[in-house]
Amino acid sequence: MHFVLCTCWVSSYNSFIVSKKDLQKKAEELRRQINYHDYRYYVLNDPVISDVEYDTLMRELKELEKNQPELITPDSPTQRVGGQPTEGFPPVEHKVPMLSLDNTYSHDELRDFDGRVKKTLEKVSYRYVAEPKVDGVAVSLKYENGIFVLGSTRGNGVVGDDITANLKTINSIPLHILTDDKDLLNIEVRGEVYISRAGFQRLNAEREEEGQNLFANPRNAAAGSLKQLNPRIVAKRRLNIFVHSIAKPPSERFGSHYDTLQILKEAGFRINPHNRLLENVEEVLRFCDDWEPNRDGLDYEVDGIVVKIDSFEYREVLGETTSVPRWAIAYKYPARQATTVVDEIKWSVGRTGVVTPIAILKPVSLSGSTIGRATLHNADEIKRLDVREGDTVIIEKGGEVIPKVVKVVAEKRPRKSKPARTPAKCPICSSPLARYEGEAAIRCENVSCPMQVRRRIEYFACRSAMDITGLGTVVVDQLVSAGLVKDYGDLYSLKAEQIESLERMGKKSAPNLISAISDSKERPFDRVLFALGIRQVGFHAARLLASRFSSIAELARSTAEEISSIGGIGPIIAESVVKFFQDEANLKVIGKLRRAGLKLSQKRKRKGRLPLKNKTFVLTGALSRYTREQAGDLIVSLGGKLSASVSRKTDYCVAGENPGSKLDKAKALGVKIVDEEEFKRLTKKS
Ligand code: IVH
Repeated sequence: MHFVLCTCWVSSYNSFIVSKKDLQKKAEELRRQINYHDYRYYVLNDPVISDVEYDTLMRELKELEKNQPELITPDSPTQRVGGQPTEGFPPVEHKVPMLSLDNTYSHDELRDFDGRVKKTLEKVSYRYVAEPKVDGVAVSLKYENGIFVLGSTRGNGVVGDDITANLKTINSIPLHILTDDKDLLNIEVRGEVYISRAGFQRLNAEREEEGQNLFANPRNAAAGSLKQLNPRIVAKRRLNIFVHSIAKPPSERFGSHYDTLQILKEAGFRINPHNRLLENVEEVLRFCDDWEPNRDGLDYEVDGIVVKIDSFEYREVLGETTSVPRWAIAYKYPARQATTVVDEIKWSVGRTGVVTPIAILKPVSLSGSTIGRATLHNADEIKRLDVREGDTVIIEKGGEVIPKVVKVVAEKRPRKSKPARTPAKCPICSSPLARYEGEAAIRCENVSCPMQVRRRIEYFACRSAMDITGLGTVVVDQLVSAGLVKDYGDLYSLKAEQIESLERMGKKSAPNLISAISDSKERPFDRVLFALGIRQVGFHAARLLASRFSSIAELARSTAEEISSIGGIGPIIAESVVKFFQDEANLKVIGKLRRAGLKLSQKRKRKGRLPLKNKTFVLTGALSRYTREQAGDLIVSLGGKLSASVSRKTDYCVAGENPGSKLDKAKALGVKIVDEEEFKRLTKKS
């Protein structure tokens, strides 16, 4: 790309009468130039003009926009920090879910992953892309007609927050894609926003000077910055981004992830220069080992390597579970450790009654954060480690957010220490605790245990579930302690007068809370299903269930087998659903929700018929009415399976335009071959 600088233009604009159209053209030209120079500077780190020349361009554009405000466009570089402080962050639905990754911690575990890939892909050869896993905040960037229109956080993977104004302040995010390639004009890319180590140190030094709380680590600093309501503050935080994925390949032309990243780089996105295309798992392991010591030389935190299958076609074949893909995994570097003392071992009760031990520690600093508590997982783990109050222990932060105790320093044990005792009674309600064979957890089985009740209500009210503003931990605590609610079904019969007298509630907040509770009756069926808190049923699983079952009543009548016939729902989730509806207490609460008018059903979307059950399909060539992804989704939604290669087990080979060698193989093996018309008939929903 080549641009000619034209600084003489401002004077000519002042002295001649220029048509509106010319002004608009000029503004467009200046924007194009500035966007390009932003790219050279912030993305490629290779500027081609001096700062003074750049400032002149920017000044020219600002001047022009000042005189002609109607020429300002949302993608103008002057608008990076143009926004007013936001009211909040409206929810954004991710049409393609933002998945997370499974972790591996050893060569063997990574080889096991490769083994699973190999088994599914059968005989085809595949390649991996290995990328440094930058420790920051996952975001999604959406472009329409080449313009950055929507930026969001991951949230729970399906619904995140709209943080467009804050993301616009990041100079390495192109406001306008630098390409005319039609396929790229309407895309959604994903990446990791981070703050450099140096930026983090500087930010904390400034905060210390101003007497503000310090950020515990670079990731928290990046996350905290993106949650700022005022984009002007965000702009000062010196955030940066690496784009690492495309939500969906924009066309059949995009077959390889690695090639796509190169194309995205040319289109203006900042791609990590250390990403590599590798031939096999052994090369990947070498890459991981090489980076382990070298990562400290980078200006940002890297906590592992992300390993991805390169081919989009094979990714489709490998598929994904409700939360992670089967075509990618993270190889995590060993956690950094610290030594401290256990002051106390406490037991906490969760939503499902599991009682978990927690070590309360003398605060210690670990990879940048201050740690005051660590999980001990369960009673078996305490026994295995023989952790006692007063012990000096080694803690580490692994893949999980909460650090864990990994070892006791035996030599430092105080002389009079006693082994930790596993409680026989619930620390909250004193009911006897139960432990089932084969399970490590101990449980409080009193479903009315005040702590479980609280946690269930908190979960019900949280943002991804019923999203009841003002119903957080403190208020839930008060409502339960005052005996006003015994389960989430009781929320809907609360009256403002009843809650006015609660601490910090008052005449104004009480009716607000009541109306927030009432508003939540409008949440759609899948959200209600999630909010019920059925064990194992997360947000994504709730959606899948809602896509097949049209009411709670229908779901409650179904067998585990029927439920697990939904792609993505395994037998463990299915069993858990069945068990939930066998419990009288749960049915009673659901009765309260029904009487309150919540959406416990929805219009029937699709009949539960599975005409393709147990049929295996192979796709070859292009179909005119479906993308490969759509065709695959359709097959799976009707109970069928998709495979990458033809074998004797293949039931149908769907052949589109320009089929490949798979068609020959299908013919040779006598597999039934269907064209698009026949495929349409096969997949017709009744
Ligand atoms: S790919 C389905 N690539 O790691 C695959 N993620 O647990 C989704 N991350 O917060 C992610 N660097 O944002 C991918 N090169 C990379 C990454 C990366 C960092 C983050 C990601 C998410 C977490 C996944």
